[in-house]
Amino acid sequence: MTHAIRFHQTGGPEILVWEEVEVGQPGPGEARVRHTAIGLNYVDTYVRSGAYPASLPSGLGTEAAGVVEAVGPGVTDVKVGDRVAYSGGPQGAYSEERVIPADRLVVLPDGISDQQAAAMMLKGMTAQYLIRQTYKVKERDTILFHAAAGGVGLIACQWAKALGATVIGTVGSAEKAELAKAHGCEHTILYTRENFVERVREITNGSMVPVVYDSVGKDTFSASLDCLAPRGLMVLFGQSSGAVEPVNLGILAQKGSLYVTRPTLGTYAAKRADLLAMAQDLFDVVLSGKVKIEVNQTYPLKDAAKAHEDLQSRKTTGSTILTV
Ligand SMILES: NC(=O)c1ccc[n+]([C@@H]2O[C@H](COP(=O)([O-])OP(=O)(O)OC[C@H]3O[C@@H](n4cnc5c(N)ncnc54)[C@H](OP(=O)(O)O)[C@@H]3O)[C@@H](O)[C@H]2O)c1
Repeated sequence: MTHAIRFHQTGGPEILVWEEVEVGQPGPGEARVRHTAIGLNYVDTYVRSGAYPASLPSGLGTEAAGVVEAVGPGVTDVKVGDRVAYSGGPQGAYSEERVIPADRLVVLPDGISDQQAAAMMLKGMTAQYLIRQTYKVKERDTILFHAAAGGVGLIACQWAKALGATVIGTVGSAEKAELAKAHGCEHTILYTRENFVERVREITNGSMVPVVYDSVGKDTFSASLDCLAPRGLMVLFGQSSGAVEPVNLGILAQKGSLYVTRPTLGTYAAKRADLLAMAQDLFDVVLSGKVKIEVNQTYPLKDAAKAHEDLQSRKTTGSTILTV
């Protein structure tokens, strides 16, 4: 028997319970992984609260690192003893040990620790597709990235700067502004106090930006459209402040023939070849030293509810891991 954080009804952090679970043997195409570190992600709070559907009772979490303990029939992607990490697949990463489809696992190179991997597989591959695929950030671009001091934010802003872009990052406090400046942001905007559209206009001398990366959602979506240059791209990739209300697409015409996309890592990394290429790109940029993975909070797995409270109260910065 091992332990896992599970929930039997949706709701606040208090519904998360620490339970004994039986892991069982991996079936065809599956592997059993003993976790060494687990990633905390904002999406976990959507699943816990019911904003994203889950069939109950359910495990939680889709990002972790660990060691392969057993493989089922037909598995060729990993072998027993491999140090691996993953993002995606079925819920259940908040556990000491679990069974998972083996084609979601990536073998970790030397030089990437388990803690780093748990802190970056989901957030770092998200940063990868956002700035390398959804909109290819180029030298001399000026881009706007919301929640720049968060988990995805700190990784994406460092990476965009390494690609030669000028990054404008929004943040919720002066301390977060300092952190964002130390991790790729040339300019920061305190969007809780300042009008970020006016600040973007000032910083860009009226040109505005070709792309806005917005994971805040409800509170920022509409004003984010006003930060775009004509034919600019709005990348809405999360909803930390709540879901965006239905939009009359006519506003995209009025605001300058804009584009909007609502991407997910699940789509971009669905094929194993794409998953491996994205992971390799992330490993390369981290091993080069251009992107540092900041694990700024660590909680015992048992205390996942406290980690959720802190994440949702905007108390965390960078990545958070749960330890077993
Ligand atoms: N689509 C995808 O593929 C994908 C993948 C990964 C993550 N995401 C999304 O990306 C976002 C970032 O994820 P993360 O795990 O790295 O979290 P995070 O950025 O570390 O935490 C969320 C941050 O959002 C900001 N925020 C603004 N308004 C908020 C509000 N009303 N309540 C809570 N936070 C608010 C806070 O920063 P400030 O205090 O600085 O405002 C907070 O720290 C999430 O929305 C997540 O769902 C999407």
